Amino acid sequence: MSIRKSIRKQYLKFLDREPELDDLDFYCTELESGRITLDDLILIIKNSDEYHKLPKSKIYENDSSEIETYNDIRIKGKTLSSGYRNSEERYNEIYKFCKKFNRPISVLDLGAAEGYFTFRLSEDFPGVFVAVESNPQRKLLELCIKNNNQNILLLDKQMNLKHLKNLKEVQHFDVVLALNVIHHFDEPFQDVLDTLISMCSFCFMEHPNSLEDNSTKNSHRLKTEKMNFEKFKPQLLNKNESGLGNSVNQKLERNMWLLQNTKSKTIDRGWRGTSKYRDQFGLDAEIKIQSDFNEINVNYGLRNEKRNWIQGVDLRTFLEYNGVYPTTEKIINLIDELEIDNAQDLGPHNLILNGKKLFLIDQNDKLDDVNTKEKLKDFLKQSGLL
Ligand SMILES: C[S@@+](CC[C@H](N)C(=O)[O-])C[C@H]1O[C@@H](n2cnc3c(N)ncnc32)[C@H](O)[C@@H]1O
Repeated sequence: MSIRKSIRKQYLKFLDREPELDDLDFYCTELESGRITLDDLILIIKNSDEYHKLPKSKIYENDSSEIETYNDIRIKGKTLSSGYRNSEERYNEIYKFCKKFNRPISVLDLGAAEGYFTFRLSEDFPGVFVAVESNPQRKLLELCIKNNNQNILLLDKQMNLKHLKNLKEVQHFDVVLALNVIHHFDEPFQDVLDTLISMCSFCFMEHPNSLEDNSTKNSHRLKTEKMNFEKFKPQLLNKNESGLGNSVNQKLERNMWLLQNTKSKTIDRGWRGTSKYRDQFGLDAEIKIQSDFNEINVNYGLRNEKRNWIQGVDLRTFLEYNGVYPTTEKIINLIDELEIDNAQDLGPHNLILNGKKLFLIDQNDKLDDVNTKEKLKDFLKQSGLL
């Protein structure tokens, strides 16, 4: 791992934020010259005021308490072994619904575990399928490499509410799968659900039964934190046994819901580090997403431009959220393979990754310093992202 990448890793781990470019430059020189070691840097961070002020529950490390295979293991269209939850009946509901789309779709599978739903969707539908999973015991990167599907992205990230809110501001998905994951969050379940719905058009949500015992994570909160689905036109799809804990607990059923975002869908800023369109250009300046089962397009509002939404995740967001599949090697190849005539602004937020290819957008806004493939790679390395 490059020095810049490992500095960035410590910032994310202990301060839960990206490092400033100046700090990256500074610590890179310190480490390269041998004036400090990586352990010294960790000590410096841990002695900082910023670290002390952070609520410690907000600093996430891998939760490795669950080790049993949750989902069935699926390789190249074949189910090789079974998980302890029944995934097939749940998938059938998702499949039936996704069949309604007459166009490619984008799906975010939050807490994808062994990736069963991501793999099945990617086999059955055109589009882009983004799995989020950070528990190494799920071996999801290995499974992605074995499956070798070109329409899958994997983010190796333990999300918190802030990460989800930041993601909402720059991304939109047709469908979010929030299956048995919201109860893992430290923040209020309702806030997590509201944020997930705001970044998509439809959300499949499965949540533990409030009667489940402490073999279920945060079971005490399930009893007190009731969620309100009414505003999302809830549709109960099916009920599935928890499969967890003692024989009584295993039989308790969890409801799977289809929920809808009934509000306007927007992209609120160009990328994480820049100001919101609303603050820059006034009320109603967000980019509007207009979508139905036949088409999805973006209406810029600010300028007279309406175009098809390109399914995928912009390269900046992919790397900032610890995108690990496609692998770094593949990403560098995709950058090298870009066919570019007269690029104006090759900032990574202007490149949309769909797993197979990078697509350029917004080349007529401004002339940026980063306007060649080499400069883009240098910029990503400088930022500790590559
Ligand atoms: C109970 S499993 C559910 C798996 C799958 N969604 C399903 O329903 O079949 C929850 C998974 O979510 C992951 N997870 C929990 N909290 C997460 C978070 N904040 N960000 C990303 N993944 C998370 C865990 O590592 C675990 O693999």
